Amino acid sequence: LSYLLSSVQMEMDEDKSLILFVIHSFRSPDMNLEAALKECSTALNLFLNNRFSDALGLLKPWKSLSTYHAMGYSSILVMQAGMTFEPKDMDAAMASLGESLQTCQRFRKKTGILETLTNLWSRQPADNLTEEEMHAELCYAEILLQKAFLTFLDESIIGFIKGGMRIRNSYQIFKDCQALANVTKDMEKQKSMYIHFKGGVNMGIGSFNLMLSLLPSKVLRLMEFLGFSGDRETGLSELREGAAGNSLRSILSTLTLLMFHLYITVILGTGEGNLTECEALLEPYVEKFPNGALILFYTARIALLKGNFTFAQERFLACIAAQEEWRQIHHLCYWELMWAYSFEQNWREAYRYADLLCKESKWSQATYTFQKAAILSMLPEEEVIELGENVGEIFRQVEGLRLRIAGKSIPTEKFAASKAQRYSSTAPVKLVVPALEMMYVWNGFSVVGKRPELTKSILTTLEKAEEQLKDDQSERNYVETLHLKLGHDNYLVPFSMYELGLLHKQKGDFNTLIKDLNCRTNHKDYSMESRLHFRIHAALNTMGSFSAKFPPSRTPA
Ligand SMILES: *[C@@H]1O[C@H](CO)[C@@H](O)[C@H](O)[C@H]1NC(C)=O
Ligand SMILES: *[C@@H]1O[C@H](CO)[C@@H](O)[C@H](O)[C@H]1NC(C)=O
Ligand SMILES: *[C@@H]1O[C@H](CO)[C@@H](O)[C@H](O)[C@H]1NC(C)=O
Repeated sequence: LSYLLSSVQMEMDEDKSLILFVIHSFRSPDMNLEAALKECSTALNLFLNNRFSDALGLLKPWKSLSTYHAMGYSSILVMQAGMTFEPKDMDAAMASLGESLQTCQRFRKKTGILETLTNLWSRQPADNLTEEEMHAELCYAEILLQKAFLTFLDESIIGFIKGGMRIRNSYQIFKDCQALANVTKDMEKQKSMYIHFKGGVNMGIGSFNLMLSLLPSKVLRLMEFLGFSGDRETGLSELREGAAGNSLRSILSTLTLLMFHLYITVILGTGEGNLTECEALLEPYVEKFPNGALILFYTARIALLKGNFTFAQERFLACIAAQEEWRQIHHLCYWELMWAYSFEQNWREAYRYADLLCKESKWSQATYTFQKAAILSMLPEEEVIELGENVGEIFRQVEGLRLRIAGKSIPTEKFAASKAQRYSSTAPVKLVVPALEMMYVWNGFSVVGKRPELTKSILTTLEKAEEQLKDDQSERNYVETLHLKLGHDNYLVPFSMYELGLLHKQKGDFNTLIKDLNCRTNHKDYSMESRLHFRIHAALNTMGSFSAKFPPSRTPA
């Protein structure tokens, strides 16, 4: 009934929706926790079946009356805002988060002033919470975390501090919920909704631990001092438990694990994600949502990382065809397709998707534009003219397109802009194989390395470029006269040492490895510095106890 009402409601004007709101308020005793969980799960299924606005419509009528509706509703709006980057979507999400916090607050256990004060000193999970109150805590922490995420995008230092405080508060509540779940475990396991509560705790604690574990050790120690914990194994095992359970949030734990294995370990690590685990995690959802855009996307990404580019391309195209409502998912696919074709050195197709990104996506115009020019640089000049493009012209646009988030520039964009700078002089000296350089920066060689024949053809391209450079004095003159040393490319030295270190690691020569990794102490202020620090941290992490004996000597603040 409420689903019907909500669909009707969307077509009505505001007065009528107010009336409906009143009707709902009278009916609210019917919306108990169990019914709310059920309806939220229906909404989640709609969402995974690409019916995004239907999911919103289902949750909307109850969003100020039920914690789960409030949480689900604002989660979808936050995702939308994160995808579109539109100020109006951001405002809508922020407003909805505020309302949802209020809704949850109404259901949280009321604590007297005295209790609040005691809690400030020694936080202990309040005893004897009702199930409603327990779930209200959980939803409150989740909404707070989302709010922190949006606050970070606010471009001010105040926004940054506020965001940080919300994260801390959210983490504290998750810790309380975890303690509560352990206390409650024995005597109240029979409570029907316990599994959903436990699933939420797994998801929250797991994500926090996993994300913090990525931080370089000095930062991590600071975070631990502030009361956070960042243990990778704890994070993974909590999330695995959450994903295996049969709770409302199982899929969210699954998606977080996939995000970790398929993206974070590739970009900020050495590409050590476990693809077998990913396939096993995704399998039940592939059966249940064969045409779900998110599921298709992850299926494609797994294929890509396995080196099965043809299948990946096909699945990304299927993902695009699956829905029109959230165009931003198309943009994610364009980005992936661009790489999939770049790995095959099919620059014409790669260009197509880079061009689409430049035209349609708002995320990072500077990166897309650089990428497009870099890909065009790989094509013979006649083909570029045939496409009606001018490489130098596109490179020159990069600088003007840069974004600032929280007053800071984005490293990738800064890197692109500094590389593109050569084209702003009157007699520009061309970049050499810039698309392959970007492939390296995004750790693409760890992907293309799964395909020996493609790796070999990339090597051929490199050797040809080197041959041409020998005949061409301009690059050497450029480097020698304008930059004296390596200039913008100074990142190559520490990155080379890192690569050398990895080779030693493969050979089991750990002492030389540590020496190489620590050589980076002599280098600072190079491009992509923090990305390298993340990778070094990940490389040392995979050596387990060995790295504890030889901690890296310098990490960035
Ligand atoms: C919790 O409830 C039980 C019984 O319902 C009661 O005996 C106990 O004193 C309560 N504990 C607190 C701290 O209120
Ligand atoms: C990857 O995951 C699978 C299934 O979960 C497991 O059997 C295997 O040991 C894992 N591999 C590594 C290297 O951790
Ligand atoms: C790519 O993946 C598909 C589906 O899993 C499979 O049928 C195909 O054989 C794979 N191709 C290669 C080259 O591994």
